[in-house]
Amino acid sequence: MTTTSMKLILSVVPILVVGFIPELSTGNDHGQFVYAGFTNSNLTLDGAARITSTGVIELTNDTARIKGHAVYPSPLRFRLSPDGMVQSFSTSFVFGILSSFGDIRGHGFAFFIGPSNDFTEAFPLQFLGLINSTNNGSSINQIFAIELDTILNTEFGDINNNHVGIDINSLNSLRSHTAGFYNNGKNGTFTNLSLIGSGPIQTWVEYDGNTTQISVTLAPLGMEKPVRPLLSLTFNLSTVLKEQSYIGFSSSTGLSTGHHCVLGWSFGMNSPAPTIDSTKLPKLPYLGPRPASKLLEIILPIASAVLVLAIGTIAVILVRRHLRYKEVHEDWEVEYGPHRFAYKDLYFATKGFSSKNLIGVGGFGRVYKGVLSTSKSEVAVKRVSYNSKQGIKQFVAEVVSLGHLQHKNVVKLFGYCRRKGELLLVYEYMENGSLDKYLYGEERRSILDWGQRFKIIKAIASGLLYLHEEWDKVVIHRDVKPNNVLLDKDMNGRLGDFGLAKLYDHGTDPQTTHIVGTIGYLAPELVHRGKATTLTDVFAFGIFILEVTCGRKALTEDTHNRQVMLIDWVIQNWNKDSLLDSVDTKLQGNYDIDEAFLALKLGLLCSHPFPDARPKMRQVLQYLEGDVPLPELLPAHFSFHMLALMKNEGRFGSSIVSLYPSPTMMDVGSISFSLDGR
Ligand SMILES: Nc1ncnc2c1ncn2[C@@H]1O[C@H](COP(=O)(O)OP(=O)(O)OP(=O)(O)O)[C@@H](O)[C@H]1O
Ligand SMILES: *[C@@H]1O[C@H](CO)[C@@H](O)[C@H](O)[C@H]1NC(C)=O
Ligand SMILES: *[C@@H]1O[C@H](CO)[C@@H](O)[C@H](O)[C@H]1NC(C)=O
Ligand SMILES: *[C@@H]1O[C@H](CO)[C@@H](O)[C@H](O)[C@H]1NC(C)=O
Ligand SMILES: *[C@@H]1O[C@H](CO)[C@@H](O)[C@H](O)[C@H]1NC(C)=O
Ligand SMILES: *[C@@H]1O[C@H](CO)[C@@H](O)[C@H](O)[C@H]1NC(C)=O
Ligand SMILES: *[C@@H]1O[C@H](CO)[C@@H](O)[C@H](O)[C@H]1NC(C)=O
Ligand SMILES: *[C@@H]1O[C@H](CO)[C@@H](O)[C@H](O)[C@H]1NC(C)=O
Ligand SMILES: *[C@@H]1O[C@H](CO)[C@@H](O)[C@H](O)[C@H]1NC(C)=O
Repeated sequence: MTTTSMKLILSVVPILVVGFIPELSTGNDHGQFVYAGFTNSNLTLDGAARITSTGVIELTNDTARIKGHAVYPSPLRFRLSPDGMVQSFSTSFVFGILSSFGDIRGHGFAFFIGPSNDFTEAFPLQFLGLINSTNNGSSINQIFAIELDTILNTEFGDINNNHVGIDINSLNSLRSHTAGFYNNGKNGTFTNLSLIGSGPIQTWVEYDGNTTQISVTLAPLGMEKPVRPLLSLTFNLSTVLKEQSYIGFSSSTGLSTGHHCVLGWSFGMNSPAPTIDSTKLPKLPYLGPRPASKLLEIILPIASAVLVLAIGTIAVILVRRHLRYKEVHEDWEVEYGPHRFAYKDLYFATKGFSSKNLIGVGGFGRVYKGVLSTSKSEVAVKRVSYNSKQGIKQFVAEVVSLGHLQHKNVVKLFGYCRRKGELLLVYEYMENGSLDKYLYGEERRSILDWGQRFKIIKAIASGLLYLHEEWDKVVIHRDVKPNNVLLDKDMNGRLGDFGLAKLYDHGTDPQTTHIVGTIGYLAPELVHRGKATTLTDVFAFGIFILEVTCGRKALTEDTHNRQVMLIDWVIQNWNKDSLLDSVDTKLQGNYDIDEAFLALKLGLLCSHPFPDARPKMRQVLQYLEGDVPLPELLPAHFSFHMLALMKNEGRFGSSIVSLYPSPTMMDVGSISFSLDGR
């Protein structure tokens, strides 16, 4: 064959062999076959050779001094007649050599063409299962082989322990070379390739019958076949091979062992070896330490299950987190950006609104203590639920505006956050909580002494004056009472909760207005006309003074255990000329008599049924500071008015007491309705 006709065949043959499957290859007259994996193949195996479940030929295992052969089942006709010359042939195979113990190796393997498939007389070790010590070099052998030798045997003239050799009748290679390949590019430089542990390696062995040219080429699987062969030798195989010869692989181990594996193989007589589809090849077996592989078999499924579970969990967490931190944002809020808190921040600040952080439950909602992660400042977060849509915009505007309030006796409102049906208000945290707990002493707290009480009264008066007169706008608190007076760490009184009532009080028509406040603190005109003013705040403040002084609630019990309004009870005492009997008995007489008189009278004055009779907060503060003396007042003054009020306006006071025996926040519109209905 000339090189041109060889090229012609090269381009035609691959088409012929498409779909050529190993089973059909046996007994094929054209002497052509291809195996990509050896499952169900009809190779003749002997010795340690076996075909693994994945279809890999494993010629040897870790047993010492064993041989293994895998031989094509029938001999091929290399000569067309007994005297004819050996035809051109070409073969290609993919192999891998694995060592179980690091660099330990033994001994290598060979592709051979020989007269027999019976190797019982052959030796293992350096003889590679091909020949024995007596027939080495003898022309009787009629063997041609390509050795892939991993041990240096000086008696056979080996060049090193990682070489490829062309052998004829002997293991003394006629030509050998370190395993490797000449690069197609890079000026054809040579690259070493370790036969052991380099993964699958492809080998091409070609013989040209006309030129008697033998060439051997190696390359890592997947690489294009190098143009320059690793080994070339001109040798007339017609002088060696029998007319009918077997082809196959032979391998052996010695004291040291190795796994010699063949993954795929193709052969072509008088034609190039068919291409081996590398994608169909089985994987080289894994030869890890035994327990490790077992471990992997157990760990891998568990690990993947854990991974799937983790991904699922993360997805669920992300979705839940999204829902958990969901807020309501609307365009009009953009300008309030700095006052708006992220729900997530508040959530973390309050440890997820945990019950441990709950500091109180009021009429509007729950209050939680929190520490903002950014500023480390302590805050009280109040969660207020609301249903109204229209009111919220106005209210948020108000909240933000109230956020600008700055006074030492007013609790700072930092900002807000909005969720569906819920508003969160963020206040400055007050260490000592609300005043009511100290006044009524239910929680075994220390009782406030008179000095502290008087100071708190003045502080709240000062805070209220600020809201009424000293800020840009008039702010009506609407719910002045001890619950809404908070104490900082130095027991200074601070007015809190301002403006909240507004959320529930957004009507403009007095007929439909729902007044919110707390029974006992509501000025009569507020109940009747539904309009909160600074003077309704003064009324509530008057009740507040009385509560602080008397240590009693706005609705209290008289000596006969009948429920009465605190204000009525104080007036009764005054009528009996024993006003100071009203002062909290828990003080055990330890108080300033003048200040107590002032407080009681001022409380009554502030809570005068007629708004016009009440002082303004500025005056209240002047009276408290002693700058201006309190006008002369007589109990009759109040009794008269009370009677007049009861005549003119209905039986205010006691009727509420009987209807609503406990002070709760409620819709006063309905109260006035029931009063009118009686
Ligand atoms: N800024 C704050 N710092 C510390 N504790 C607070 C703060 N605000 C409220 N609290 C606590 O939370 C409790 C509940 O407060 P909230 O204002 O919601 O209810 P209230 O004042 O008792 O009733 P209402 O809602 O009718 O005004 C208070 O009694 C107080 O102990
Ligand atoms: C070999 O030589 C014969 C006769 O010279 C020729 O017919 C044949 O094509 C050649 N084969 C190759 C592969 O060159
Ligand atoms: C190796 O092969 C020999 C011969 O087939 C067999 O007896 C031995 O059990 C095998 N060893 C292993 C570890 O598979
Ligand atoms: C395997 O090859 C042998 C020898 O050529 C033959 O006798 C046998 O029938 C073949 N078996 C199959 C299943 O092809
Ligand atoms: C070597 O092999 C030949 C057959 O190929 C056999 O006759 C001879 O006895 C063998 N020698 C030894 C030492 O086994
Ligand atoms: C094997 O045979 C060759 C000749 O083919 C000879 O040169 C070599 O020394 C022999 N080696 C041994 C170990 O017999
Ligand atoms: C290839 O060889 C030529 C001449 O020997 C040299 O000039 C060139 O730099 C080489 N290129 C590479 C990539 O080695
Ligand atoms: C290739 O292997 C041979 C023999 O082991 C060694 O002498 C040579 O240095 C190696 N070359 C490279 C580039 O690794
Ligand atoms: C090869 O050897 C055979 C038989 O010995 C002979 O007929 C043939 O001409 C030889 N071929 C070459 C190219 O020398």
